[in-house]
Amino acid sequence: MRPLAICEVTAEAAPFAKTGGLGDAVAGLTRMLGAAEQDVRLFLPLYPAIWRQGHDLVPVDFLRDVTIWLGTRELRFSAYTTPLPASDVAVYFLHCPALFHQDGIYTAGWDEHYRFAFLSVAALTCCQRMGWAPDILHVHDWHAALTPLYARTLFAWDRLFAATRSVLTLHNLGHHGVFGGHTIGELGLEPYRGLLPPEDLAADQLSFLKNGIRQADLLTTVSETYAREILTPEGGFGLDGLLRERAASLVGIVNGIDYGDWDPRHDPHLPHHYGATDLAGKARMKRALLERVGMEAGDEVPVVGMVSRLVEQKGIDLCFESLPAQLGRHDFRLVVLGSGEPRYEAFFHALQATFPGRVWFYRGYHEPLAHWIEAGADIFLMPSRYEPCGLNQLYSLRYGTPPVVRRTGGLADTVEPYSWEAGTGTGFVFADYTAAGLAWALDYALTTFAHPEAWRGLQRRGMALDFSWERQGRAYLELFRNLAGGA
Ligand code: ADP
Ligand code: GLC
Repeated sequence: MRPLAICEVTAEAAPFAKTGGLGDAVAGLTRMLGAAEQDVRLFLPLYPAIWRQGHDLVPVDFLRDVTIWLGTRELRFSAYTTPLPASDVAVYFLHCPALFHQDGIYTAGWDEHYRFAFLSVAALTCCQRMGWAPDILHVHDWHAALTPLYARTLFAWDRLFAATRSVLTLHNLGHHGVFGGHTIGELGLEPYRGLLPPEDLAADQLSFLKNGIRQADLLTTVSETYAREILTPEGGFGLDGLLRERAASLVGIVNGIDYGDWDPRHDPHLPHHYGATDLAGKARMKRALLERVGMEAGDEVPVVGMVSRLVEQKGIDLCFESLPAQLGRHDFRLVVLGSGEPRYEAFFHALQATFPGRVWFYRGYHEPLAHWIEAGADIFLMPSRYEPCGLNQLYSLRYGTPPVVRRTGGLADTVEPYSWEAGTGTGFVFADYTAAGLAWALDYALTTFAHPEAWRGLQRRGMALDFSWERQGRAYLELFRNLAGGA
């Protein structure tokens, strides 16, 4: 079989640019596709922080000072390349200082629509300059969602893209990338108003995501349950009607995780390593974590860990009531890493002040600490309101840190509810989005922890699961092949 030419367009790819699971998922899938001998190339903006990471960024000769137009705005960019670590896939960084001069992947700036429309147009322009005809144009979330529309409009004249089929992966329906109607002209889409959703034209707005959903040949999302949830008014963020129309072209595939980065047997961030058959290293990691955060506790006192963007999606509201009550009832330690909305950060700061020595909160983003918490905690907390896939629960399963999760999206698909009676399951799952639901599940976890034998069984079952990209990525490859075959 000939390799497929797959063009990945994304705002995030770890380790270069990451604010959450999107960056991990895109990098992991891309690496897998490369290892499977596909001709995959990945395009993302060159954010200023990437310069400082010390990668060997090589300028691409034929992609130097390229001019593109977005409406009447002339933009110049140059591309730099370096391989995706642990892979020979080429990553192309699109360097456009006029748009990407300030720190941060996302900004609330006036030109945010330009920044990501640029990503789409520049990626397609690179394909042209490379004389490279992608079989599959695979774009992620709202940031890259205009790419299929641009391929059908500004680039439609070029036969290079005649057989290209597009796939939009929905990692999170909570963000649509909606801008005022003036951006239609600014982004060069004025002549194509007829292709834009009439209700958006009436409302004088442009939604990147909605146009992606309408124009992509195929839609995927990151778990089977989430693929069903987004077809309902409760889970569809106002796009459920449109998604129902496209339901025949929507597929849910649970993300993989990269065991090269996330495996306690050889995680380079950890001073102690361990696996399912020898958990001694985990006990050492627990002591190391407690020492690092300045807390004291014997091995018998459970440590609950949390690593999260502190936003409404993650179910932090439920913690407001549950956590203080649980801390009053049980002896455990809570270690939280995250940043986000001020009200959630304030909550964890206050909790730390109320329970000194028992609650520790680090406000910020800290990659090594995320690994330490996965390894050093006994229980991982993830009470999400909604969760398209979730990677942290997959990491925690691998790290022998059974998760407490709500039954939603990818959490429902990847964590099997523990049953004390049957001795089955991998984590603690509650259904209702209520503080009582979370309290029940956390209570169940904390009491089970007191029974070492039951706990070991729970850990071992979770650690034995395989959510590798090698496994999960096959479904993508098959989809891509079918889609390209039908071209
Ligand atoms: P989401 O993408 O919705 O944030 P996921 O569970 O899919 O949720 O992925 C979250 C990823 O981001 C994980 O790799 C997690 O370790 C990482 N992460 C989130 N917050 C932080 C933080 N404060 N510091 C370090 N890593 C973080
Ligand atoms: C999004 C979702 C998360 C998912 C990640 C990668 O950030 O919130 O559930 O795991 O994308 O697909």
